[in-house]
Amino acid sequence: MLMEEEEPRVHGARSLVAWDLLGKLMGRRGVRKKPMSDDFDDFARELQDQIYEETRRTYGEVAFERWLQPRYVGVIDNPDGYGCVTGSCGDTMEIFLRFEADSVKEATFQTNGCGASTVCGSFAAELAHGKNPDGVAEITGETILEILGGLPEQDQHCAFLAAETLQEALGDYMIKQRRRTHGAGQGEPDMARVRERMAEEERIQERVDEKGIRWKKVYFGGGAHFRNWLEQCKELGEVTVEEVDSTGFKCFEEGGEKLYRIWLKEDSTTEDDLS
Ligand code: FES
Repeated sequence: MLMEEEEPRVHGARSLVAWDLLGKLMGRRGVRKKPMSDDFDDFARELQDQIYEETRRTYGEVAFERWLQPRYVGVIDNPDGYGCVTGSCGDTMEIFLRFEADSVKEATFQTNGCGASTVCGSFAAELAHGKNPDGVAEITGETILEILGGLPEQDQHCAFLAAETLQEALGDYMIKQRRRTHGAGQGEPDMARVRERMAEEERIQERVDEKGIRWKKVYFGGGAHFRNWLEQCKELGEVTVEEVDSTGFKCFEEGGEKLYRIWLKEDSTTEDDLS
């Protein structure tokens, strides 16, 4: 669990802007031995206005307003779905979901990340409200960026962190649902069969199609995870998707979910891209 709710942390770049502005304003005022408090209030107001203006210009009106008044911040006790993800930047986000009649009744988030992550977490929670699991699964980093009208390149990963955390919370809900539906001890996967299927899958790594083109398997799985991977794999080169019989993978089989392999055309990337 993260620390208690904190003030949205000002992004490092924005802090630099603030200090830069502070320096300029100090220079403009000149050095005074005993600043009057009115002068200081004016100075602080002017500084704040300039920081706000700079932030609005950099992040856009929608993000700016949400940064000033983030919505859906907080914790839900005993949530139906809970996700906690630490991004590559080292910041962590948590998302809490409460479902009613298989739709999101309440969604909240908290993060120790930057201002952009607060904005993105807030929109991830907002977008989830009222949606069923399929609807939530469609919320991606791109969806959040679209609402914001984009973010500076260095902050775009904050939207993907929010979306990934939301998907993890959804996955947690789905697992709990399956357990509830099947009851404790029932519907447990046949582990011998699952191991057998995994071993089969492990052996399938490459294929050559009818035109003699070689393909390398880069992913096997299903659900929202599959869709996220597919988007990322497309950036590596030409891909094809193969649907796989889910018999033996009980969770997928009983949930009527499909499994997929993603094949990447060989020579379209290097080993380093995949590591
Ligand atoms: Fe880490 Fe934004 S910089 S979430």
